[in-house]
This record gives sequence, structure tokens and C-alpha cells, in this order.
Amino acid sequence: MKKTVFAIIALFAALCLAAGCSVKKPDVPVDGPSPAEQGIDYLVLVNKLNALPDDWEEKLETTKMTNSLGDEVEVESKAYDAYLQLKEALASEGVYVDLDNARRSVAEQEDLAKRFTEKYGEAYVAKYVAVPGYSEHHTGLALDLYLNIDGEDVYLNEDMEQYPEIWAQIHAKLADYGFILRYLDGKEHITGYSYEPWHIRYVDSIDIAKEIMSKGITLEGYLGAVNETDVTVELGESKIYSEEDLADAVSQIKCKFASFKGCELHVLRYAGDDCVTDENLKWVNEKDEDAGYTRVIEFISEFHSPVEDDGQNAWNIDEEYTGWQWWLARTEDGGWDVVDWGY
Ligand code: DAL
Ligand code: ZN
Repeated sequence: MKKTVFAIIALFAALCLAAGCSVKKPDVPVDGPSPAEQGIDYLVLVNKLNALPDDWEEKLETTKMTNSLGDEVEVESKAYDAYLQLKEALASEGVYVDLDNARRSVAEQEDLAKRFTEKYGEAYVAKYVAVPGYSEHHTGLALDLYLNIDGEDVYLNEDMEQYPEIWAQIHAKLADYGFILRYLDGKEHITGYSYEPWHIRYVDSIDIAKEIMSKGITLEGYLGAVNETDVTVELGESKIYSEEDLADAVSQIKCKFASFKGCELHVLRYAGDDCVTDENLKWVNEKDEDAGYTRVIEFISEFHSPVEDDGQNAWNIDEEYTGWQWWLARTEDGGWDVVDWGY
């Protein structure tokens, strides 16, 4: 009898192995490495769709420094060592940088979002500031640089944007120290944010950083979280809006589109001056009675819905959507708000 039972167990185990299934281990406590010893995932993806992992803080090791403005900055320790090497290499070429900001707690991100909303408005914040809990800065791996030019610190976003050649020199060196440029120009539909030349991200691998930077792709694209496609933008002609007005509206739509999980944006087309009517202006003001919009604009998009159904989306699966509308509105001196989208 014993022999038969043993033979049955042995046969079951052999079948399990052959089928590749796993046998559940007993629930006994195991002395594995502590969270701090396990360390962080240097390729973690934190973006508009992915919050900071819950166990991040307990694994994170940071270093604190004081920048030339007298502000204390906290950085993930390996990222800080790599940053110091990058800084030295840049200085040898006559390019001087310092660290404006690196790790931010959720409370600090809330404070930043509030300050930036007061200073620049909501439309700007939608393009440049993450919702607290969803900022890559929570990881300690995202570093905001500022410049020192002819002995003067240049740290405001609008001032730093005036030096594209210096940023190009900085970006060319990032990968050699395990950094990538995180928010690329023209990839807002993937990253969800406007171009930020100052925001670099440590990935702890020169090879990976070089692959990402040489291909000009996003971290999302490298990790396979999205299919990285280019968007065709057709602005046509407008007698009402300048090219800058139209480009700004496109940027807002792309930032919003990045939260359409699994969707791939193909075309964005200005719907034309005929859609700029009093009737449409009245309609957008009915959506937000306090906004006081004075301008309205429409775009038409083409995009592909998710190829696989994850049970959480409202799209028809694997379908090319065409003629999908985007309505935006603004006050005379404000930025565009995306107020409605759909058919
Ligand atoms: N500026 C980046 C998107 C952040 O707020 O995390
Ligand atoms: Zn940043």
C-alpha cells in the first residue's frame, strides 16, 4: 500500500515537472534580503499611468547636498555619484550645471503644483507638473539641472529654454554616465509632458542609456509600455490663430492623449476656422461656467485603440478610430484647456 501511495506521488510530481507547473512552497518564514538590501529597480516606470511603487521608500538610499542657491537637494545615492562625474565632465568643456531638484515627497509635489498653478496657470501645470504620487521625482532618480552662464545662475524654466545649444551639449554627455533625457520634444503623446531639457533620469546602465539616447526613444518605448510611433500633425491654414496658438493646442492634446492607456496616436489635424463659432464658444463655457473662455478651437484625430483587451478599457479592441474630436478653449491670456473629446 505504502509503495502504491509513493508511486502515485512520484508520478504526480513527474507530471507536474513535465507540464512545467510549480509546486506551492510551504508558508514558512524565510530570512531573505531586507527591502533595503534588495535595492530599487533603476528602470522603474513612474508616469501619468504608473504611480510610485508602494515599497519604494524602504528600498531607497539617498544623499543630500546643498546647491549654489542654498537649497537642500536629496538624490538617490548612485545617481548622485554619477551626476558628480557628469558635472565634472561638463565643466571641463566650460558648461556649468547644478542640481535644482531631485527627490520630491508627495507633499513637496503638492506644494510645487500649487505654486506653479498660481505662477503659470493650470494649462502649464498639465504639461509640466505631475500629479502628486505620479511624479518620477518621487523615485530620487529624476534630476532637474540648472545652468550657470557667465557666473549667473539660470534656473527659471522660461530662462533655461533660451539656451538650446548648451542643453544639446549636456544631452550629448548624459548616456556616458547612465542618464537619459526623459521628456523629449515631440514625444508628449507618449510621456504625457512637454519637452523638459533640464529633467534627466538615471537608469544605472551606460549600455541602456546609450541605446535609449541613440535611438531617440522614451523610457516607455524602451520598456515596451507603448509602441513608439510618430504623430502626423496637420495645421493647415488659419486666419484666426497663429502657428504658436495651434502648436500649443497640439501639445495639450498630446499630453492628455498619453493617459489613453494602450492607444497609439497617429494624426492630429486642425479642424479649421469654420469651427471657431459663437455657438461653440457658448457650448464650451456651459461646460465650465467659471472659466470665462473667449477662444475655442477644434482638432480631429486618428488613433489606434489597444490591441489587447485588459478588461479595463472602453475602446473597441484593435480598431483605427478616425474623426475623433478634441475641443479646447482658453481666455485671452491663458493657455488652452482640453474641455471635451470624443465623437
Ligand atoms: N516635471 C515632471 C513631469 C514632474 O513634475 O514630475
Ligand atoms: Zn523634473
